[in-house]
Amino acid sequence: MQPNFETLAMNHITIKDLLQSHTIGETVTVKGWVRNFRSNRFIALNDGSTLSTLQIVVDFENLAADTLKKITVGACIEARGPVVESQGSGQSIELQASEVLILGESDPNEYPLQPKKHSMEFLREKAHLRPRTNTFAAVLRIRHHLSFAIHEYFHNRGFFNMHTPIITGSDAEGAGEMFNVSTLDKKNVPFTENGEVDYSKDFFGKETNLTVSGQLEAELAALGLGKVYTFGPTFRAENSNTARHLAEFWMIEPEVAFADLDDNMDLAEDFLKTVIQSVLQHCKEDLEFLSKRQLDEEKSKPQAERNELSLMERLAFVAENNFKRLSYTEAVEVLRNSKPNKKKKFQYLIDEWGVDLQSEHEKFLVKHFGCPVILYDYPASIKAFYMRLNDDGKTVRAMDILFPGIGEIVGGSQREERYDVLKQKIKEFNIDPEELWWYLETRKFGTCVHSGFGLGFERLVLFATGMGNIRDVIPFPRTPGNAEF
Ligand code: 4AD
Ligand code: MG
Repeated sequence: MQPNFETLAMNHITIKDLLQSHTIGETVTVKGWVRNFRSNRFIALNDGSTLSTLQIVVDFENLAADTLKKITVGACIEARGPVVESQGSGQSIELQASEVLILGESDPNEYPLQPKKHSMEFLREKAHLRPRTNTFAAVLRIRHHLSFAIHEYFHNRGFFNMHTPIITGSDAEGAGEMFNVSTLDKKNVPFTENGEVDYSKDFFGKETNLTVSGQLEAELAALGLGKVYTFGPTFRAENSNTARHLAEFWMIEPEVAFADLDDNMDLAEDFLKTVIQSVLQHCKEDLEFLSKRQLDEEKSKPQAERNELSLMERLAFVAENNFKRLSYTEAVEVLRNSKPNKKKKFQYLIDEWGVDLQSEHEKFLVKHFGCPVILYDYPASIKAFYMRLNDDGKTVRAMDILFPGIGEIVGGSQREERYDVLKQKIKEFNIDPEELWWYLETRKFGTCVHSGFGLGFERLVLFATGMGNIRDVIPFPRTPGNAEF
């Protein structure tokens, strides 16, 4: 007989299922973690299936004293009994426990999560336990839903999911911010005659790193399958200690043959709106909780910095309104004439065309236009080698999408599909064309117009949850000096 998950593992019901469909009087078993235990009688039980806790009423006179003693905050228990209408307010049903089993004890004097508000910083140090808090469980459920909605979006539109390598020999973004992957003996590193590390003796016979992007390989696949996307871990060894940077994050990179930059912008905008809409539809309970949480957070900020819109309103706004599209050149004009530039309030003043935009400028533009902004046609000198050169010879078909409170959430481009131009660009960027022979060959054999973009998954989760720090939207963040758990 085939093992049946329903009968094997589900000899208990999740709190989510119980709250959704129940019959008064029916006897059920639930399992979860004690959030609170009041008056030796009322257990608030949470099992992670939903934000809601289930109230379990124990009959303390008939419960073994030893069991009663072990019903403590953090303990894992199983309870069985009939579902009854709730006497208290705020919930429709409760469980009248006739049996309680202690599955895992928790010493109340040592358990770090008490039924009170803990700071995000404190919880980061307890990342192994934070999935048991309302806030992180809500974030993780929304994170899951977003991931699912992303796969669904592309699958429904004929894209194929590609698994691109995590260990790579190339630096796709050319920024040189990579983590080396090596099995060389650190106490006895082999050197070449020139005094450089001899990677020919290393595991792969060449120097390898953790990938900064799956794009180059996604392009190879798109030029055979038409429409593909990656959704994988990405690594950047940039020493940025900000609320928006991780050393290990997840990136979604669609790549589309026969698409130009306009198609690319259309895809990115529709994609973002659709997945946000999906979360609004399916994660109401968690979003309402995070909305309230954010409102409390806003109250502690100075008036001028407060968000005028609630989290739910902001999500709806982005899902329903068109993004503002303007060229880099137009954006620089707006910035140059802006108040903070004239009053020298920007840390980096905008005085000439060609400068890279900082996050303060991106945030200004989003505020200025009051909606997400797509900037395109950036100076070639501040963007990666693979972007298609415009006829002006100085700008490339790049696009960045800027989001409220986040800044850059998407970076993409139309790719340089012309062999000679690409080869020239590779040389100008001081990359050895030999290293990218396989990438260049796709331009030699059946090249075509194609485009794609990269969405930083955690930046999307940050936006969708209204959390303030990217470390709080990934279960176990990797940042400079931090790889615990
Ligand atoms: O703009 P980036 O560097 O673009 C690329 O990697 C291209 N290969 C994408 C493509 O065209 N296929 O990165 C894309 C996005 C950024 O817009 C940002 O959302 C996110 O990845 N990102 C980070 N997220 C968290 N921590 C970091 N250190 C990030 N660096 C980039
Ligand atoms: Mg970028």
